[in-house]
Amino acid sequence: RTVRIIGAPMDYGANRRGVDMGPSAIRYADLADRLGEAGVEPIDDGDLSMPRAEERDPDADQPTRGNAKFLREVEDVCRRVSDRVAATLADGEFPLVLGGDHSVAIGSLAGSAREADLGAIWFDAHADLNTPETSPSGNVHGMPLAAALGYGAFGETEWAPAPRLRASSIAYVGLRSIDERERELLRESELTVFTMSDIDQRGVSSVVEDALSVATDGTDGVHVSLDLDWLDPKTAPGVGTPVRGGVTYREAHAALEALSRRDRADNILRSIDVVEVNPILDEGNETATLAAELTASAFGKRIF
Ligand code: ARG
Ligand code: MN
Ligand code: MN
Ligand code: MN
Repeated sequence: RTVRIIGAPMDYGANRRGVDMGPSAIRYADLADRLGEAGVEPIDDGDLSMPRAEERDPDADQPTRGNAKFLREVEDVCRRVSDRVAATLADGEFPLVLGGDHSVAIGSLAGSAREADLGAIWFDAHADLNTPETSPSGNVHGMPLAAALGYGAFGETEWAPAPRLRASSIAYVGLRSIDERERELLRESELTVFTMSDIDQRGVSSVVEDALSVATDGTDGVHVSLDLDWLDPKTAPGVGTPVRGGVTYREAHAALEALSRRDRADNILRSIDVVEVNPILDEGNETATLAAELTASAFGKRIF
């Protein structure tokens, strides 16, 4: 299959600069060659241009309620990510979005859910379910799932909600950091949660299979969102919001291999984003290298 690489060097959603260099670092880690070894044909679209905001006030253009920093910039980028993802799918190609911070996923989910009922798997330490009203930080990278589901102030926008994505088709894998008000939202919602503790008890492959059952039930395809802070910070130090106690190198590969096994059998994957790689905080580009390796695993790369 043909994979179209869409670089989205966004950092307006994060609290630390540097994550805008993620796409370059992942490319530099031989993403294209690794995808080739996975048997897919990569076409690199290059990077979307980012609005300049050095001189802008992060608190300008706030939503009607709450706090969401640089929301106008995030909207601008996500609209373009969404259009690019939708056009890629319409051409029969597979969109691979390289972040940038996790707010780019608002765009990839909206684009991928335009013409299909979408399920999603969220590999992340965090729930990313804050709304502008509940966010303790105001950073939009902590909000993409709430945005895609139209929660809180996002429900009053036309660009954020993903047209055909339901909470009941979304599963977290490896969750271990939830803000207090996110926990309430999560309890009321129909999202499925597999925490690190589920992985400890049952093993990552079996957890991923369950997550896939959730994301494929009644849907046309699955979006995979891979936030590199899902991994343990010892393995993936180049992230802005590290949380100890994440998955190991082996577990991460096993998880994405479980995905690709199911994909080989049932052709379930529809779109992927790989986000939150911050080269400034990284050590020897190892987090970006991991991102490239794990992406190749998702597309079916095998040792033998
Ligand atoms: N929950 C925190 C917040 O909302 C951290 C979110 C981190 N998200 C991420 N995609 N790295 O600010
Ligand atoms: Mn359908
Ligand atoms: Mn995260
Ligand atoms: Mn995230």
